Amino acid sequence: MVRSNKIIAIDGYSSCGKSTLAKALAKALQYLYIDSGAMYRAVTLYFIRNAIPLEDTARVVEALDQIHIDFHSQPEATSIYLNDEDVSEEIRQMRVSDCVSEVSAIKAVRLAMVAQQQRMGRNKNIVMDGRDIGTTVFPDADLKIFMTADPKVRAERRYLELKSKGEEITLEEVFENIAHRDYIDTTRRESPLVRAVDAIVLDNTGLNEAEQLAFVLDYL
Ligand code: DC
Repeated sequence: MVRSNKIIAIDGYSSCGKSTLAKALAKALQYLYIDSGAMYRAVTLYFIRNAIPLEDTARVVEALDQIHIDFHSQPEATSIYLNDEDVSEEIRQMRVSDCVSEVSAIKAVRLAMVAQQQRMGRNKNIVMDGRDIGTTVFPDADLKIFMTADPKVRAERRYLELKSKGEEITLEEVFENIAHRDYIDTTRRESPLVRAVDAIVLDNTGLNEAEQLAFVLDYL
């Protein structure tokens, strides 16, 4: 069936500014922004709170049935709700970042999230960011962007963001977490992070937010 809505897929490494660019693009084009990483983070938070053993597939599948994820868009921000609770702040904490890659490598988790993401993209113009959007969720996306940046620059940006929120953390810990997530995200068996062959590459190591947005809008 021919799709009439537009889909922009942004994939890339952890903490390289995907969501900042995705939000700016969605705003400029009046599309809906969907942060697929936030969905994996919400699942991870539920698993942590309920002490779900990741190796127990039956428990994982049972838990997935209890999880309902929603996005609420306000003019200035989008909040994510886990079973009617706003968890937008809590899913960014390091205790979630520390195990989200392990959770998102589980096949049952991916199947559930991908199905929900595909439903969200039905009949709406969207910008979705993640790791497998251009390869698995929407292989027929109208535009695919693969983002990357120097790992040290990514760690510094993330460190400053976490510090500003009051997290007690060192730059080394953030660097380790990013390197660990990159490793799992790119080597996992289920839809690993790879550049779709038809994605344009955007290395934003030396680019500010306005320059990145201009790059994509020019391309469009
Ligand atoms: O984009 P983020 O850092 O908030 O994503 C959190 C984790 O979720 C990341 O380590 C990998 C995983 N993820 C994924 O596997 N597939 C996606 N489409 C989005 C995120």
